[in-house]
Order: sequence, then structure tokens, then C-alpha cells
Amino acid sequence: MIPDQAPKEDVFLGCEEMKKEAHVPSFEKYKELYLKSIDNPDEFWGDVAKDFFWKTKHSGQFLDYNFDVTKGEIFVKCMEGASTNICYNLLDRNVHERKLGDKVAFYWEGNEPGDELTVTYRELLQRVCQFANVLKSQGVKKGDRVSIYMPMVVELVVAMLACVRIGAVHSIVFAGFSAESLCERILDSQCSLLVTADGFYRGDKLINLKFLADEALQKCRDKGFPVKRCIMLKHLSKEAEETPLGSHSPPAKRSCPDLQVPWNPDVDLCWHTLVHGASDECEPEWCESEDPLFILYTSGSTGKPKGVLHTVSGYMLYTAVTFKLVFDYQPDDVYWCTADIGWITGHSYITYGPLANGATSVLFEGLPTYPDVSRMWEIVDKYQVTKFYTAPTAIRLLMKYGSEPVQKYKRESLKVLGTVGEPINPEAWQWYYNVVGEKRCPIVDTFWQTETGGHVLTPLPAATPMKPGSATFPFFGVVPAILNESGEELEGPSEGYLVFKQPWPGVMRTVYGNQQRFETTYFKKFPGYYVTGDGCRRDKDGYYWITGRIDDMLNVSGHLLSTAEVESALVEHEVVAEAAVVGRPHPVKGESLYCFVTLTDGVTYNRALEAELRKQVREKIGAIATPDYIQEAPGLPKTRSGKIMRRVLRKIACDERDLGDISTLADSSVVDQLFQNRCCTV
Ligand code: WT7
Repeated sequence: MIPDQAPKEDVFLGCEEMKKEAHVPSFEKYKELYLKSIDNPDEFWGDVAKDFFWKTKHSGQFLDYNFDVTKGEIFVKCMEGASTNICYNLLDRNVHERKLGDKVAFYWEGNEPGDELTVTYRELLQRVCQFANVLKSQGVKKGDRVSIYMPMVVELVVAMLACVRIGAVHSIVFAGFSAESLCERILDSQCSLLVTADGFYRGDKLINLKFLADEALQKCRDKGFPVKRCIMLKHLSKEAEETPLGSHSPPAKRSCPDLQVPWNPDVDLCWHTLVHGASDECEPEWCESEDPLFILYTSGSTGKPKGVLHTVSGYMLYTAVTFKLVFDYQPDDVYWCTADIGWITGHSYITYGPLANGATSVLFEGLPTYPDVSRMWEIVDKYQVTKFYTAPTAIRLLMKYGSEPVQKYKRESLKVLGTVGEPINPEAWQWYYNVVGEKRCPIVDTFWQTETGGHVLTPLPAATPMKPGSATFPFFGVVPAILNESGEELEGPSEGYLVFKQPWPGVMRTVYGNQQRFETTYFKKFPGYYVTGDGCRRDKDGYYWITGRIDDMLNVSGHLLSTAEVESALVEHEVVAEAAVVGRPHPVKGESLYCFVTLTDGVTYNRALEAELRKQVREKIGAIATPDYIQEAPGLPKTRSGKIMRRVLRKIACDERDLGDISTLADSSVVDQLFQNRCCTV
């Protein structure tokens, strides 16, 4: 399956210099280790596990699983019998055993240039222990769910690891999501406590987060679920005399005395007051391998988001080893992942993977375009970033401004560049490689999902010759296959459904509270396989190329959205009778949202209504789901059995007149009508 030799033609070979000290220095070594990970997983993962602290050791085989719905319940169990604590491994072990107490864990860089602070491993450990004690004092126990709705500040990492320390399960909700989305997630995971902040700036836009959090809690109350406590960090309204975390100097714009922070004394507690009196020592709670670690929601094709559940030992090992090998982590690296911790990329590759390795990372609160489009490269130079990880949408956005803003900075420290979130188009790849990395830095195009926990298809920077746009080969322990519509495995060059034949330690364990949905979504279509939902092509050299989603999911700026979720937000408006949403290619975002709405009788469509609908979707889901185009549709193209033909709508959205076979269409006149009234502008 993996060729014996790497291809020599039409590939980029990366950096010779790196091969000298790399963990996996050649393709041959990659292949050798890959075969070991498959043929002898106990030994392969046993070696990885040696780097960690185990309160008790595991017994029996490393992984036990069933991927076949016809043979009973789907399950994955890793390292049964072992117990550990991830926070202990990420912090105590690094401070005490590896003597990294004074090493910087995070360089925090605020939205406003000049707003910065530095946190060492020792300080992080103290802060986490204090907050863990705070959580305990508020009655949070092992297994309880805690919702976290915070901007990109160090305290977000503190809050998540404090949960981990006491065995509580964090459920982080991206701070760009709406109050409604937060409420839905709190209810689904039955969180007893919410941690949030007063507010933050995104570029020059002020987000009053506490206001949204309150709205969410009110909605929860209305639905009969009162969240007992809400702890609020003062991020913007910090008073001057308070000792901030780490050493830093707040610039003028950071403090925001005018911020209106609503306060409910029955529920609200102040982070700073609570932490003030808390001890900075806290015994970790030892957890079983398969105890829940966190829940993270991802869009589902039926509309309602799914609570992806990850568990302790397997996720820890997998994020640690993928971070180490995919970025070829070395002790003097300064690593920067631009994702938000509210997404899986931030969970695995800002918090867990880097800290498990004792790495120094940049934690960035701001935007790539604020105050100007050089910000990223300014930060790279400022901290001498060596490994840089971002998304194709950010690359395409910056590409629009040409190479001059990049070349204003040196970027000499850069060694490896990474990308994640969606297929990277070869033009963006080339620009990233040539302009940003100056042909010196290998690009790791990492394919993975919230569900996979960590990278599953990816190059290793010193071992894998790169092809622009291909995520190349499987990571250790991962066995991909390509299936045709009837579920047959295709050999050699082929295209079809991307599936995985066996689990790896970091794969999700279930959909929280809904095992049924877990099995239907990922295992029902092709019994015996984990189905990714992505299409994939394998070329003559065995390289994998992701072709995009094959379900009703859209990828907007690297974030998955379900068409059903946006549709239901639209039809909740009283004048919308029916809605259908499709993706339309977008030069920066990858895909944009093109919505068709059928109005109830007698209502006329106008600009004001359009604005209302946009606002409605924004409020229901969040800014990322804001429709780019809304078109009134007197009728929707449907099959005789009433199924909306999205394929046809996609063509209309793109103004492609060649519709293919539309013989199953019940009434073809609606199509002409829709073409005539297309939206031409945003
Ligand atoms: C979906 C997962 C994994 C963190 C970010 C997104 C797409 C992700 C790539 C890549 C092609 C990619 C897939 C996947 N995707 N990375 N390197 N090449 N496609 O996490 O929200 O769970 O989305 O993102 O379609 O299924 P997610």
C-alpha cells in the first residue's frame, strides 16, 4: 500500500539540513515504523507510552475494538487497566522530572500589538492547580461537565487543564458561537458550570462575551436547566492594581472601562476573587484510560451538532506523538498554531500535543489582518517561530495582498509549515512554500477531523516528498482504504469514499449521550469501517488526495457547517416556508453559503427581510454561518418523491447551465426561474 520507495518525479523534497536530526529522517524509516505500528502495535505504542507517567500500568492488548455494526456495539478501548492524569503529564512531569519549570510554555500575544505576556511551565502549573481548587470549591467533581466559553487567553488553557486535573470533562465552545449555540451545547452535555470572560476584541470589534453567556444561561433556564455557576474572567475590564497572570504591560486599548458587564449575583462569580484565596497545590485525580476527557461539538449532517467524546490515555499519546513527529518537534523550537482552542486543532495542537512535549508555543488572540496584513510575519520574527501551523483560508486571504507584506519581515527562523482544515489548492500551497517558506520549509498538509483526535493522513517533514494539495500518507497506526459505492475496497490508483479499517489511539469513542448516532454516522454505511465523510483519490504513487465532503456538509474557512443546521435556522423565521442551502466556491473561504428560501404565501421578498434572515442565522449559529447569498425561490427543484435536488441548486448557485440528468425532477420550470433570479452580488 505504501510504496517501498518514495517517488522522485513531480515532488518537492523538503530540506536536506533537517534530515540530520529529524525523528523520522527518511521515507524508508517512515515505512519501517509504519509497518511496525501495524504489525506490532503493542510494541509501537508501548514505546510511545514509556514517555508518560502511569499511576497503574495497562494489562492485555494495547487496543481492543469492534468496527463492525453487524457484530454488535461499536467500541474502541485503549490501554485498559492503566490510569494516569493528563494534566500531571503535561505540567508536573515537565516541571519536576524534566526540569522545564522555567521554560516558557506560552508567549501570549494579544489582539493589540504590544499586549503580551509570558507564562512558564511552573507558573502554568500553579495557575492550573489554583483554578482546579476553585472548581472543586464550587462542587465540580470527577465526571462533571464544565462548559468553557472564552477568548484566546492563557486562562482558557488554565480552565481546561484545571478540569483535566480533577477529572472533570471540559466542553469548550468557540467564542464566535452565538448564545443559542452555547445554550444548545450546555443542555446537550448537561454542564453544571460555565467559565467565561467579560469580553474581548477581535481586530477592532468588541465582543461582549458575558452578555452572550448570560443570554445562553437564560435560555437554559427557560428550558428548565439552570446552570448553577458562571465564573467570569476579567479580561478587558481588568483593574490596574490587580496582578495579572505572568509578566506583562497592558496597553491603553486593552482595558475597557466602558464595557457593560451584566451581573447576576445568584450565579456569577469573579475568577480573580476566587483564585485569590485558592491554594496552588492540588493533587491530580487519577483517571482510567477510557474515562472521558472532553466533549467537543462538531456539525452533523442532520443539523444538530454532535458531541464528539475523547478519552484520556489514547488521546494523550496520539496528540503527543503526532505533534512530535509531524512537526518534527525539537526542544529549542518555538511553535505557533494560529487556530482557536475552541476547535479541535487548538485542543490537540495548542494545548495537549505541545504541552505533552514540553514545547514553547505562541498563543495568539488576534487576527491575521489586524492591525495590518503583516501581523503574522511580525509575530514570527518577534518570537523567532520555527514551526508554523495555519489554515488554507488564512493563506488565501494573505495571498491576495501579495508578497510585499510577507517580505517586510525576515522569517529566517521558520523550519516547518503546516496546513489544516480543508484541501489546500496548489496555488495557495505554492505561495506558502515559495513566498512564506522561501522554498526552504517542508509543508505538512495534515488531514484529520474533530473525530480523529489528531492527524491521520500527513507527510512527515523530513521523510515524505511532498505533492502540492496531497495529504500524502497515513500516520502510524492508521489504515486508510478507498471504497466504491458498493463498499468494495479499491486497489491502486482510484477514487471513492475515504474510510479507516482500524482504530488508532486518538479516535473518538462515541457521540456524547448518543451511541446510536455515533454508529449511524460513522459505521453504518460500510460495516467494518470508520467512514470519514470525505471523498478521496489515490494516485499512482499511492498518495492520498482529499477531494472534499461527500455528505451535506460545507467547509467555510476550514470550519464544517451542516446545510441542515443553516436551513433550520432560516425556516425558524415565520415567513420562511422552506430553505435549501448549498456551497458555492469562494476564493478565500473555500466555500460560501448560498441559500434558497421559499416564503409563505403573500409575503414579498426585500432587502430588509434579507438582512433579517442573515441576522437570524448569525444569532442562531454564529458569525461563521452568516449566509453570503440569499435568493428567493418561488419553488425548489425536487424529485417526484419530494427530495430537494441539491446538485441542481449547486449548479444554479454557480451559474453552471449544464445540469446533467434532471429526468427525476418533478417540475423543471422552477429551475429556469431560479436561474433568472440568481444573486449576482453579495
Ligand atoms: C474536515 C474535518 C481537523 C481540524 C480542522 C477541521 C476537512 C481537514 C484537511 C486537509 C483536506 C481537510 C475534511 C475533514 N479537512 N483537514 N488537510 N485536507 N481536507 O476539523 O471541523 O472536524 O473538519 O475538514 O473535510 O473531514 P473538522
